[in-house]
Amino acid sequence: MNNRARPVAFCRFARAYNVLEKLVFKDALEKTRFAFLDSISEAKRILLLGEGDGRFLAKLTSINSNCLVTVLDASPTMLALAKTRVPATFLGEIHFCKQDATKCTFPFEAFDAVVSHFFLDCFTEETLSALLEKLSSTLRPNGKWLIADFVEPSPNALRSIPQFLCLRILYAFFRLTCGIEARRVVSPHKLLRAHGLSESRCISFSKGLLASLVFIKQA
Ligand SMILES: C[S@@+](CC[C@H](N)C(=O)[O-])C[C@H]1O[C@@H](n2cnc3c(N)ncnc32)[C@H](O)[C@@H]1O
Repeated sequence: MNNRARPVAFCRFARAYNVLEKLVFKDALEKTRFAFLDSISEAKRILLLGEGDGRFLAKLTSINSNCLVTVLDASPTMLALAKTRVPATFLGEIHFCKQDATKCTFPFEAFDAVVSHFFLDCFTEETLSALLEKLSSTLRPNGKWLIADFVEPSPNALRSIPQFLCLRILYAFFRLTCGIEARRVVSPHKLLRAHGLSESRCISFSKGLLASLVFIKQA
């Protein structure tokens, strides 16, 4: 575990998160977030990391109505919002955990699916390396890991300048308002491959600024 990871403060921003997102990105983040929702419609035990205000939880629990979900987020306000979004038709069980994912331990091979949307991009490579090791081991063999995130553009491509500037502004904003430690998006591919996961699905949005991915843990 990286002891230098700073506590994050998404609470002040939680209620405005959805509106701000739509103002800046319209529906692009929603498309990225839900692109591969179908691939865990039959998973039984699901871990949602840094779930935020619960929009993914709402859709998941409406299409997979009898699963066991663990929702982990460091922000109590985000968790409170997420609780309000669970449909009355949901028959499964949900555990809401207010915890710092970088500091907690996860049970071995306990989940069929892990979802980390717009969450891994909050961390530096050092923190991410320790976090992905723990999270890989909590996923069962053949389990799926869904990731929606921003993508750093290639530094030499002139056509990527708008995406590059957009990311720098976003990082400045989230560092200032929420205290995230990262300054850029660290690609999780290499670290996940090292822990026995391989990419099975991928789709890009907003000219490559956003990507939705599914990784599978080898049996
Ligand atoms: C950028 S928001 C993403 C929210 C949501 N998953 C989405 O798709 O928009 C990051 C979320 O991760 C949570 N978070 C950030 N660092 C965390 C940590 N170390 N442990 C647990 N949750 C954390 C924040 O509270 C926030 O809800």
